[in-house]
Amino acid sequence: MKKLVLPIVFFILAGCYYDSEEALYGKPGTGVCDTSVTKFSTQIKPILSSYCLTCHSNSVALSSGGGIKLQDYANVKTYADNGRLKGSIEHSSGFSAMPKGGGTLSSCDISIINAWITKGALND
Ligand code: HEC
Repeated sequence: MKKLVLPIVFFILAGCYYDSEEALYGKPGTGVCDTSVTKFSTQIKPILSSYCLTCHSNSVALSSGGGIKLQDYANVKTYADNGRLKGSIEHSSGFSAMPKGGGTLSSCDISIINAWITKGALND
């Protein structure tokens, strides 16, 4: 039970951090952010594909993404583990705010990525 409480508190706090309506409700029309399932293959990869791979795919990372690749699991795992993925999408100080020049991810997408990291950033 104790194990469950901390992530839940974290999600609530993360959910309140950005307060624009669009950011609060990641899935337009539903008003619901489902962080119960956070698989790399079905949740994380699609978010990265939509918002990050224009600059961080294997083929363009060197020219557009500062050499940082976020296409394959092994590369994403590196940035999940070293905190830079979380720091950059949360626009935390000390990190480069991502997506670069493109606002922020919805708070729901941020919550999903953070939940995946909290669960160990598995290749699932
Ligand atoms: C328009 C191009 C562009 C897009 C889109 C973009 N990035 Fe980046 N990203 C960069 C560049 C260039 C750098 C390296 C220079 C810098 O830090 O600004 C970078 C750096 C990073 C870093 C390292 C930051 C740090 O402070 O160590 C991470 C992590 C990252 N990006 C993740 C993402 C994620 C996740 C997304 C999608 C939500 C994303 N980026 C979208 C261009 C982009």
